[in-house]
Amino acid sequence: MTRIGRSDLDIFPLSLGGNVFGWTADRDASFAILDAFHAGGGNFIDTADSYSAWAPGHSGGESETIIGEWLAARKPENVVVATKVSQHPDFKGLSATNVRAAAEASLTRLGVESIDLYYAHFDDAETPLEETVTAFGDLVTDGLVRYVAVSNYTAARIRSWIELAQAGGSDLPVAIQPHYNLVHRNDVEESIVPVAEEFDLSLVPYYGLAAGFLTGKYRSTDAVSQASPRAKGAAKYATPQGLRIIDALEGIGAAHGASIAATALAWLRAQPAVAAPIASASKVEQVDDLLTSARIELTAEEIAALDRVSTWTPAS
Ligand SMILES: NC(=O)c1ccc[n+]([C@@H]2O[C@H](COP(=O)([O-])OP(=O)(O)OC[C@H]3O[C@@H](n4cnc5c(N)ncnc54)[C@H](OP(=O)(O)O)[C@@H]3O)[C@@H](O)[C@H]2O)c1
Repeated sequence: MTRIGRSDLDIFPLSLGGNVFGWTADRDASFAILDAFHAGGGNFIDTADSYSAWAPGHSGGESETIIGEWLAARKPENVVVATKVSQHPDFKGLSATNVRAAAEASLTRLGVESIDLYYAHFDDAETPLEETVTAFGDLVTDGLVRYVAVSNYTAARIRSWIELAQAGGSDLPVAIQPHYNLVHRNDVEESIVPVAEEFDLSLVPYYGLAAGFLTGKYRSTDAVSQASPRAKGAAKYATPQGLRIIDALEGIGAAHGASIAATALAWLRAQPAVAAPIASASKVEQVDDLLTSARIELTAEEIAALDRVSTWTPAS
């Protein structure tokens, strides 16, 4: 277990991604995934109020609703649920009134009294940052939220958030959720990690598996043969450079009896400031790799070898 930043949130060092719940995993599959994750020691779940509004017939909130039903059915102890605001079709942006209304809607769907970790999902250039910072601070003061966090913010905007919170006496963020993995490294390492280290914030990176590419199941950029709705987003990484990373992961993983996916997540967990990578599973059989990733320790030489083979940034 590990702590997030300066918080007292004690977490398993792999967060279960929730965008699949109600989307690529139906309710029964989602329950099975959550059960397997929790039975294997997992306690940290990531979702957003907007998941999965992009799916046909969905309006947002489907993931939180399934998680809420699972929490009510299983009553698990010590589970930490993170959710996010700004992208739900009915609660767009980060104005004070919207943040409050969205948080209340999330609490209802999750069926909890307070949100353990509440992210500003994407920066909102239309709302003065001071208003958003104060709104998040007020949620903590009023007991709706335990800890504040930010996702997809630039380093400069995270610094501004912290300065405003310090000046106004609001709770500081404890975590940053960036897009970070072996095929998407440089901007995070250059700009976000230094802020996290300076202010003792943890990174909780998303797309830990590059939407499935870092499992090794996409060996060609031609995604047509793959049935998953994520295939197009994942297969684009199957360039010669991307496949060299897969080969390196396969070799290093073999030394640990671990899969490509588990090894990719173990590399991410070993990076500076990272508390727990986020990865999802759409099938219960995939959960074991996620759990294994939190238990294997790569050597310094193995991490350096993966650093070397992945020193590039894909086009998008
Ligand atoms: N803050 C943000 O803006 C943001 C953005 C995106 C995601 N997120 C968060 O990060 C989480 C993770 O991102 P993600 O779910 O999009 O992508 P991901 O974790 O990089 O990829 C997960 C996908 O890979 C496949 N997979 C997982 N384990 C596997 C295994 N052992 N073998 C083969 N395939 C496996 C599954 O897809 P298949 O169904 O194709 O098998 C699974 O859904 C999300 O659930 C969400 O909570 C946050």
